[in-house]
Amino acid sequence: MIYRHNNAMIDNSFLHRLLGGMPPAIFLKRYWQRRPLYIQNALDPKDLQLTRDELFDLASSSEVESRLVQNSRGRWQLSHGPFQQLPAAKKDWTLLVQGVNWHHDGAHALLQKFRFLPQARLDDLMISYAVAGGGVGAHFDSYDVFLLQAQGRRRWRISAQSDLSLKADLPLKILDCFTPEQEFICEPGDLLYLPPRYAHEGVALDPCMTFSVGFRAPSHQEWVTEFYLKWSEHLDLEGHYADPKPDFHADRPGEIPIQMLSALTDLIQKKRPEKKDLTLFLGEYLSEPKPHLSFKAQSIRPDAFVRRLKRSGLALNKRSLMLYHGSYVFLNGESFMCSPLERKPLHLLANQGYLTPQQCQLLNNSLLEQCHVWFQNGWLHLHTKTSPC
Ligand code: SIN
Ligand code: CO
Repeated sequence: MIYRHNNAMIDNSFLHRLLGGMPPAIFLKRYWQRRPLYIQNALDPKDLQLTRDELFDLASSSEVESRLVQNSRGRWQLSHGPFQQLPAAKKDWTLLVQGVNWHHDGAHALLQKFRFLPQARLDDLMISYAVAGGGVGAHFDSYDVFLLQAQGRRRWRISAQSDLSLKADLPLKILDCFTPEQEFICEPGDLLYLPPRYAHEGVALDPCMTFSVGFRAPSHQEWVTEFYLKWSEHLDLEGHYADPKPDFHADRPGEIPIQMLSALTDLIQKKRPEKKDLTLFLGEYLSEPKPHLSFKAQSIRPDAFVRRLKRSGLALNKRSLMLYHGSYVFLNGESFMCSPLERKPLHLLANQGYLTPQQCQLLNNSLLEQCHVWFQNGWLHLHTKTSPC
């Protein structure tokens, strides 16, 4: 695995501590997608600050995806938010709030520190709050996850078991048979990294809050289906089927003529997606914001925008995702072709999440116009270098 570490974009002291002093390249080679890693005191608890009330507030909003898992006398129950009220503390329950980084500046700032991994792979920051004894049961996830303990203690039991069959007829995925092999008590600041499909079970020992940095791993089915759906929207084929050399069997009118099958085979083989089609699809698909997220339009005159941006710099909105490949740049599901000169500032914006006032000097007139449009869409905001978010 190749890992290119660009010091300018990564918070090295954060990363050094997060990985227990291990160079990121070693982490990627030995652990990423392979084996679990437990690091005590991996984070400064000040990087994990969000109060219980802030989390409950988010869970009461219809813009935020939240779930409540309850276990009462061995019976699992799952309900979906928004929640105006949560159960009493003496019951076993866990509240799970998805995508907190899209709604909370501190959570967004924490996720920015994970820019040592491709943004195309990063999904969101989920935060759980559990009362003592609460948990979501023994299960596995299909993606890598960094479990960061923010408040209270949680006991994790994990297993490399290959039997991942699930209990039938439950509202959530619970392993039929869980055989724990290792156990860790995570305290505030501790990290447990788990690769995909690694069995685990977390039980709150105290009222506790756990942050999960989750990664995206589209299923092959979803990926290919989405590609063909999107690609077909741009297909513009001319002509109709014809029978230039009819060879029909008068006694078998119910049979599909072989010429029709060959004609379709020829058409499909000639019209194969090209690399450009796949690149455009991938960038637009990956950078598309989740459907429930909205952006607030903001209005500013172009000249005032340029003046302010050169003073304060520019940053992606916390709901925006910018990616690039070759001469294409993707922002929030849209693609843009850029010239070699335009690549530098846009790649910087995609890699860092912001441009300093100095880096904004690299924007030519056409990019300034484009940034003005993005700003008015609410996809970008002005920021000062001291507070990239
Ligand atoms: C939790 O935070 O309670 C669950 C996280 C997980 O198991 O992936
Ligand atoms: Co999990």
